Amino acid sequence: MAADMLEVDGVIRHRLASDVAMINQIAHYIISAGGKRIRPMLVLLFSNALGFAGRERFELAATVEFIHTATLLHDDVVDESALRRGRQTANALFGNAASVLVGDFVYSRAFQMMVSVNRLRVLEVLADATNVIAEGEVLQLMNMHDPDLSVDDYLRVIRFKTAKLFEASARVGAVLAEAGANVEESCAAYGRSLGTAFQLIDDLLDYEGATEQLGKNVGDDLREGKPTLPLLLAMERGSASERDLIRHAIEHGEVARLPEIVEIVRRTGAIAATRDAARAEADKAAQALSVLPQSAYREALLELCFRSVERSS
Ligand code: IPE
Ligand code: IPE
Ligand code: MG
Ligand code: MG
Repeated sequence: MAADMLEVDGVIRHRLASDVAMINQIAHYIISAGGKRIRPMLVLLFSNALGFAGRERFELAATVEFIHTATLLHDDVVDESALRRGRQTANALFGNAASVLVGDFVYSRAFQMMVSVNRLRVLEVLADATNVIAEGEVLQLMNMHDPDLSVDDYLRVIRFKTAKLFEASARVGAVLAEAGANVEESCAAYGRSLGTAFQLIDDLLDYEGATEQLGKNVGDDLREGKPTLPLLLAMERGSASERDLIRHAIEHGEVARLPEIVEIVRRTGAIAATRDAARAEADKAAQALSVLPQSAYREALLELCFRSVERSS
């Protein structure tokens, strides 16, 4: 996919341009830090797998990366995060106001781009996804510091804030290729499951990962009092005193006892169970691929399932 991704890179650079110096500075700052570019990859792999070779696929691949980038600019403000992609976050370097406003620029540029391909269905899919991401982030805000959050409510948040854009990216590939309704739904299901697996692992890595590899500070979720699956499961499985320790940490966003909590999360098997949940979602994603004709693109999509579960960055 290297050649296709280079094309996407070209669109991203071209479309990021603005006459406003600060927009160029901040937008380039976060984009040039790289990132895994998984969402644009999904657009390309699905459209290629279904036989669509038009240039619109590059525009839309860049569009979903822009939507993602805008959410990161806003997310790091909301989460008060200091590190992203191995660099200081934009909010840490340029301030919250600049990050929020440049995030708005990147979002609205994404909308200009999706309009430019002139397909109403694509517009519908991406507008819906963007709206659902916002719902997910607000839902998560409402769940902050709540140790009694149910696993179902936790899963709802990650389906909204993360899986929805994976789903939309995959679906856009199918829409471009004018796939039938069944095929399109299977592509969407793949994206939904892969995105869920991906966020489960993100939440796991916040306890088990290494800051240098992740390019993000581990322990951020606890500091914010985010009740994620590793903590919810550790509370279910731990002793009364362990449960109290974790409850208190979620309620007060306390990282002072993070090493102890990491130890509990690991010893109770909550890490392993979170990984199992991610693996189950990744398996579901893999199964959804059976509607695609055999190709190297399909193989790559399959490999993405396994890599997403084993990843450490
Ligand atoms: C980060 O997404 C936000 C989550 C949904 C966990 P990525 O892990 O895809 O971020 P980059 O683009 O590779 O930095
Ligand atoms: C992902 O949530 C943000 C969005 C999908 C909008 P997180 O807050 O868990 O992502 P990171 O850990 O900051 O990348
Ligand atoms: Mg965050
Ligand atoms: Mg996270």
